[in-house]
Amino acid sequence: MSYIGPEEILRKKQEYLIPCVYHFYSRPMQLVKGSMQYLYDSEGREYLDFFAGVSVVNCGHCNPAISGPVAEQVQTLQHTTTIYLTQPIVDLAERLAEVTPGKLKRTFFCASGSEANEGAALLAKLHQNNKYEFLALHHALHGRTMLGMSLTGLSMWRTEPTPVGGITFVPNAYCYRCPYGASYPECDLKCADAVERAILTQTSKNVAAMFAEPIQGNGGIITPPPGYFEKVKAILEKYDILLIIDEVQTGFGRTGKMFGIENWDVEPDIMTVAKALGNGTPIGAFITTDEIAMSYTRPGASTLGGNPVSATAGLAVLDYIEKEDLPKRAARLGVYLRERLEELAEKHRLIGDVRGLGLMQGAELVKDKNDPAKVPAIEETDLVLEYMKDHGVLIGKNGIDRNVLAFQPPLVITEDDIDQMIDQLDAALTEVESK
Ligand SMILES: Cc1ncc(COP(=O)(O)O)c(C=O)c1O
Repeated sequence: MSYIGPEEILRKKQEYLIPCVYHFYSRPMQLVKGSMQYLYDSEGREYLDFFAGVSVVNCGHCNPAISGPVAEQVQTLQHTTTIYLTQPIVDLAERLAEVTPGKLKRTFFCASGSEANEGAALLAKLHQNNKYEFLALHHALHGRTMLGMSLTGLSMWRTEPTPVGGITFVPNAYCYRCPYGASYPECDLKCADAVERAILTQTSKNVAAMFAEPIQGNGGIITPPPGYFEKVKAILEKYDILLIIDEVQTGFGRTGKMFGIENWDVEPDIMTVAKALGNGTPIGAFITTDEIAMSYTRPGASTLGGNPVSATAGLAVLDYIEKEDLPKRAARLGVYLRERLEELAEKHRLIGDVRGLGLMQGAELVKDKNDPAKVPAIEETDLVLEYMKDHGVLIGKNGIDRNVLAFQPPLVITEDDIDQMIDQLDAALTEVESK
């Protein structure tokens, strides 16, 4: 097989893609093949993937347990839309009702995370008798559509010049840089109390719902402490505001539980999912209770939502997650990954903080961890990423300053893979610190 190679891809990209389409690395490679936790480039080099296409391929690249049924479905019946009856959509909805927490039971399928959040917002408004305001968190990311972008609390991803109104932002639970200068647990979760202050001071009390990711992915693997969501939910209930939990990055085993929110004792009113449910097949969905679903009765349709191929992928993903008990595996390997990252944090001045749950871990890089100014190490983050790629390991980066290394591998990795990644990270940090 011959490939055009990265230079030619960059040339075509520059000529034919809208310039907003952004890529990692100053010397990117052309990826041509994937197999479980590995990716391969056009030169035949192997990469250990610790980013999983941004938290998508939880079950591994081209896992035959998923790609097999998908290929068969593609060759049997690919598309009809929901105006005709097909089986995979209802089977997947039934399975989602079984695996989602609490009273979540009814699903609407669409094709992406942004669309799922848009639909969830509409459903919340309908159920809340047209209350039209929303709350969202600093550092949130909820999508690329007009409303999704307007609900996003990261300037980099807020390109929309005239954002949707009626959205109030609340400080997030960013313990490493606590906006109140406090530390957990003495802080008594001041950031959760801020939700109530925002409702009382910045809204007209017409708030339909609050959006939140259990762990903010793009925001920098910001992981709220125990008790946070319980306190937030109690405040929302006091003011009759729904909680929409965005599980687009945290869902399907990633955090050591099936869904990220299950790390707290809270049941969302609406949950949105995408990414890992399809393991690479385009899919999105919002899921809610019987009661809330009954508010959405006027006709709704998504051309590709719940099509036989992506629904078959979702069913195969859920089968594989269950068969391999991936949440348990992510919990166990997550403890090991965290220990190993903390060892590196002891040794390297660049690592200011390590945080996350399960196989969703982040390491925030600062110029000098002993300097209370915590100056973000932005260029150093890029150098670490490039070094790792050149040495066969792909990791992610995110955060408001793009200085947080993200470790979100396929959940099928092994302890040896973690050791290999840590060895390369150790070498990368040593090299970058010596400059
Ligand atoms: C938490 C979260 N929500 C929503 C989205 C948007 O999903 P999509 O890109 O599938 O529209 C993303 C994308 O990264 C995300 O991380």
